[in-house]
Amino acid sequence: MSLRSVAVLFSAIVFAAPCASAQVSQGSDPNRTQWRIDAGEMSYVVGVNEQKMLQTLYWGPKLAPGATLPAARMHPERASFDPPIATTPLEYPAWGAGLFTEPALKVGSPNGDRTLILQYADWRQTGDQLEITLRDTAQPIAVHLFYQAYQQGMLARWSRVENLGKEPIHLEQSASATMNLPQGTGYEWSWLTGQWAGEWQLHTAPLQTGMLVLESRRGSTSHQTNPWFAIGRTGATTERDGPAWFGELGWSGSWRITLESTSLNNVRVTAGYNPYDFGYVLAAGESLETPRFYAGYTQHGNGEVSRILHRFQRAAILPTRPDPKPRPILYNSWEATEFDVNETGQIALAEKAAKLGIERFVIDDGWFGARKDDHAGLGDWQVNRTKFPNGLKPVIDRVHSLGMDFGLWVEPEMVNPDSDLYRKHPDWVMSFPNRQRTEQRNQLVLNLAKPEVKEYVFGFLDQLVTENDIAFLKWDYNRNWSEPGWDTTPEPKEIYVQYIRNLYEILARLRQKHPKLEIESCSGGGGRVDLGILRYTDEVWTSDNTDALDRLSIQDGFTHAYAPQVMVAWVTDVPNFLDKRTTPLQFRFLVAMQGALGVGGNLNKWTAEDMEISTRLIAFYKGIRPTVQTGSLYRLTSPGTGGDSQVEYVAQDGSQAVLLAYLHSQRFGLDYPTVVLQGLDPGARYSIRPLDASKYKGESTVQGSVLMGAGLQVSLTGDYDSTALVLERVR
Ligand code: DGJ
Repeated sequence: MSLRSVAVLFSAIVFAAPCASAQVSQGSDPNRTQWRIDAGEMSYVVGVNEQKMLQTLYWGPKLAPGATLPAARMHPERASFDPPIATTPLEYPAWGAGLFTEPALKVGSPNGDRTLILQYADWRQTGDQLEITLRDTAQPIAVHLFYQAYQQGMLARWSRVENLGKEPIHLEQSASATMNLPQGTGYEWSWLTGQWAGEWQLHTAPLQTGMLVLESRRGSTSHQTNPWFAIGRTGATTERDGPAWFGELGWSGSWRITLESTSLNNVRVTAGYNPYDFGYVLAAGESLETPRFYAGYTQHGNGEVSRILHRFQRAAILPTRPDPKPRPILYNSWEATEFDVNETGQIALAEKAAKLGIERFVIDDGWFGARKDDHAGLGDWQVNRTKFPNGLKPVIDRVHSLGMDFGLWVEPEMVNPDSDLYRKHPDWVMSFPNRQRTEQRNQLVLNLAKPEVKEYVFGFLDQLVTENDIAFLKWDYNRNWSEPGWDTTPEPKEIYVQYIRNLYEILARLRQKHPKLEIESCSGGGGRVDLGILRYTDEVWTSDNTDALDRLSIQDGFTHAYAPQVMVAWVTDVPNFLDKRTTPLQFRFLVAMQGALGVGGNLNKWTAEDMEISTRLIAFYKGIRPTVQTGSLYRLTSPGTGGDSQVEYVAQDGSQAVLLAYLHSQRFGLDYPTVVLQGLDPGARYSIRPLDASKYKGESTVQGSVLMGAGLQVSLTGDYDSTALVLERVR
């Protein structure tokens, strides 16, 4: 039986994994089909209205089986200034016919008709994807809307715009999706902003009438705003409770998410390519596919938003390996040596790192070309023979003999004008004719959209990994675009799409050819973190800011959107290079243990006591690592609300929980606040193992309901004090 006949018979279709489920129902009018998609605790329903337009009918808590919704209906004209097209919650609004609100699609066509009126044409299921096709009433344009539900509670949406005619069509705006929330007021929204060394700052504010624009115009994801949002109900949504609609865009180039609340209180989200400076030409028969937009809903507050995202990223986004293993504890040389890397110095650091129990040794910037500082060398990916006279092999061999694997820093998309590559191929850089090429950090951006540049980048990386036993690449990207020109193509603005496609292709080909290779996405810290790049990379460099106190809020913000296991955090030296703050070694370690632990200090300067403390804490981390990296995260108290903060992780099977507690700055000699845990089995008993016996004087075994009700007491005093408790469920 075909799916089409399933629909006609009012039956249900159930998608295969990774999909949750989708049901299709049809009332008495065969043109009024509804599609219901369930994912986790969310239902999402769309339907065709009497004017054959596709509407969002519902986005909210899961509906009961068999629940029916009223048929889709165009909203009536409220006034001659508010036409139905602008007030009806359309699934993919196209500009035209009086759409004054944010369009998902805007075209320019050869005959001058820039209008689109998209009507329902068809639907089908391909594998585990639902596809609904819309067609314009006049122009030969089809829009295919794709829906894929995940059992972790997420719905992926994207679109494909197709030119069915013979003349080229110029796309000016093409979003992945529009999604409508229940009409009304009283919403609040949360979003993440930042800057270099200050990423992941969380903001929450009432959603007022108007349009909020989250975006990057920079050619990459950006430090400034991350493509994540959550929308709650003022007064009802908290960290622990209340409704939350949320979304995340999977695109590493210029992007935009608009949150719109119209004067008639229609609330909608549109996400996708940034229409700013956008242009894409569809020749006859051609299509443009948009990035994936991932959306979810929970009734359990912002904490659950994060946990759904973390579970989803682990299950459906992050690359899988033939030999799955936790994120290794790495050592990175950057803060210790900066560009001054050489064979003897790196081996000396590796020997000390191994003694601490470190598992991966990474040489950062400076190992290649004529790289003495940031003025030269990018583009020349041959080993610098002055620094490494025998190539990388002696260091790699020594790292291996010490029981660690080896990683290397690269910045493949960039070139210094002072490099052999630039002297040979000045035309490979993105630029405008007769216009100065703006340097940032003395470097220019290669135009990866060009096939020959893509092949060069893949080629040198492939050679590097093939010729050396490299387990890990730290892939850096240290500037934004300034002259996004492309001289060899009819529509240079396609660079915004083609560059990122080629970046993803290089990453995918590298991983395919070297299945054990792991990659970290770095962009001067956290400038390129999104669900697009995370399909090809295993972890990200969270921020160049390694000050432990700043890191608490940076990491807190990060975990709203991304899983702790990808959040690389190094313990570095004090006074910190950025703000000269001095914090105790244990504080630095316990902050870095919130994610994928690393060490980045100059071990040559560490005392015997530093080495002893670090060895003990690294061994401690190994015991809690699976819980931290793959468990459920509870932000018990976020930094910024007072002088203390705590995070808790509960293992997937519930057998272990970990509490990390921090005192930033004690006031008036007050006791540390009672810590009330979450996510435990209320009836189970937990044995409590403190990291520091002197900081926990409570019972050694406590029931879950007590820990989640009365809580527990730890003794932290002064400035930058910290401790950890490990709770094991008693069988
Ligand atoms: C920026 C990164 O964020 C740093 O960790 C380091 O790798 C430098 N680049 C090297 O140039």
